Amino acid sequence: MNPINSSNPIYSFSPTGEKFQLPSPEDYSTELERLKEVINRQRSLGREIVVVMGLGFVGAVMAAVVADAEDSKGNPTKFVIGMQRPSTRSFWKIPLINLGRPPVSSEDPEVAPMIDRCVNKKKTLTATFTYDALKFAEVVIVDIQCDYLKESLGNVRDGRAEMKALEESFEIIAQNIGPQTLVLIETTVAPGTTEQIAYPIMKKVFKKRGIDRDPLLAHSFERVMPGKNYVASIRDFWRVCSGINEEATRRVVKFLEEVIHTDKYPLTVLDRPIESETAKIVENSFRATILAFLDEWSLFAEQNGVDLIKVINAIKVRPTHNNMIFPGPGIGGYCLPKDGGLGLWAYRHIHGFEDDIFKITPLAIDINDTRSLHVAQLTRDALRNMGRPLASAEILVLGASYREDVGDTRYSGSELIVRRLTEMGAELRVHDPYVLHWWEFEKQDDYPASSYSLKRFFRGQEKLKDLRVEQDLKKALHGADAVILAVRHKHYLNLDPDEVVKSAGEPIAVVDCFGILDDSKIKRYFELGCEVKGLGRGHVKRIKDNVRLKTESLG
Ligand SMILES: NC(=O)c1ccc[n+]([C@@H]2O[C@H](COP(=O)([O-])OP(=O)(O)OC[C@H]3O[C@@H](n4cnc5c(N)ncnc54)[C@H](O)[C@@H]3O)[C@@H](O)[C@H]2O)c1
Repeated sequence: MNPINSSNPIYSFSPTGEKFQLPSPEDYSTELERLKEVINRQRSLGREIVVVMGLGFVGAVMAAVVADAEDSKGNPTKFVIGMQRPSTRSFWKIPLINLGRPPVSSEDPEVAPMIDRCVNKKKTLTATFTYDALKFAEVVIVDIQCDYLKESLGNVRDGRAEMKALEESFEIIAQNIGPQTLVLIETTVAPGTTEQIAYPIMKKVFKKRGIDRDPLLAHSFERVMPGKNYVASIRDFWRVCSGINEEATRRVVKFLEEVIHTDKYPLTVLDRPIESETAKIVENSFRATILAFLDEWSLFAEQNGVDLIKVINAIKVRPTHNNMIFPGPGIGGYCLPKDGGLGLWAYRHIHGFEDDIFKITPLAIDINDTRSLHVAQLTRDALRNMGRPLASAEILVLGASYREDVGDTRYSGSELIVRRLTEMGAELRVHDPYVLHWWEFEKQDDYPASSYSLKRFFRGQEKLKDLRVEQDLKKALHGADAVILAVRHKHYLNLDPDEVVKSAGEPIAVVDCFGILDDSKIKRYFELGCEVKGLGRGHVKRIKDNVRLKTESLG
């Protein structure tokens, strides 16, 4: 590859198609001068300099929360530099933030004004591509990803933690920071990472630099939910933290008390970082497990005339059981599919144990990772009941993201639905009001990581590179043979069956993956000549029989 320079520009494209030129080597010295100037001004105002590394779903909003922090008199206490690698995939986040615009799309009305306020009014937030920013930091927050790469579908044991980005960043941080800088790791890591990976890497670099002291390392994981309460899930929520020594613990507690509403949401301080790291993994494995547990009952319900949605609602009345949740078509998002894997990996590869103590954690992930394949079977059966072959049917998937009202498609159940149905010969289309580009398909050769696309587990996937997300629902419905309700986006909760069938042009197969249809809508679809099936919704057959009986008696 030719080096980047002004006569050979390389661009990074935002999800909305805006084009930003990647920095050339000459741009680094100009950027350093800009930072020096800004920081001098900020220091004179008495503000603490905080660098947030990694402006992803977590880092971008965490950076804004810190930049928005004020003392009791309403004066900003921190100046935040969001630092992001200038890769073609992510560089656009920097210029966007510097314009005061969020690099993430969300339903939370607080996100965009907060970033705008901090960048343009309070002037407490800027973003940069240079690691030089670290030289000025009193606090560094690490929000870069730590992936778990799976080698097979439905077998989390066959995989590994991808530590490269994280290990590199520990080294870079240690090369640049001062000895008194607090390094707060927020990334969800394999338990043991802070003390057994970050610490030795940083200690060695410190030694080379002639710094004869321990790096001030701490861990405090994020519980962010990038939906309606995105900001509140960072700022107004309980936190767990721990430092590698007394000083690091004191510093992390002080910092979190200054940026998070710990008066209302008290901190839990644990003795060692491995306990904070383990808390995150156990928390998410617990959730993955209660979701996976319902998969077998979902199948039971389908085969025995039971509506699992009503069953769950009946159980949830009991306060001890009110966190039971209906699993949609697979459990996606960045965290739940991988976090248990980080635990398994740590046990063997950080702590050196050979025995196999994990049973439920990997089983839950494996069940969740393959649950959506059943949706393809339901679609096949619904179409068969209408006398239409699945191969060559036009199938519309409503919702690409992993949960309702967000634009995050990472490990969404919908991806596997599309892949399996394509393999079975169907023609797929997709609609999602929050997703403009479904990179898992558009860039399936190198996303989420080179050769780790889920496409490798299915045949006939090449054409999916051309899959585009339709924004116009009516257009998407036109001519569809089947519609899969895959995500509980608010746009899909009240779709009128008559309108849907009218837009499609003729009766269709409807597959409800998330308990979206109530009984009156299911009934109406049958009256309109459609076929309905749903995950965990065995009672649809009863509704169908009733409609048929009525029609026959009328006839
Ligand atoms: N997304 C969530 O809902 C969520 C919730 C809780 C916890 N977490 C955890 O938070 C962490 C971050 O998740 P995310 O969703 O923000 O990931 P992300 O992939 O959206 O963001 C990571 C960012 O870090 C950048 N980056 C990578 N290496 C870098 C480097 N050396 N220097 C600077 N930037 C670098 C990447 O380019 C990317 O922009 C993960 O450990 C995740 O498990 C995520």
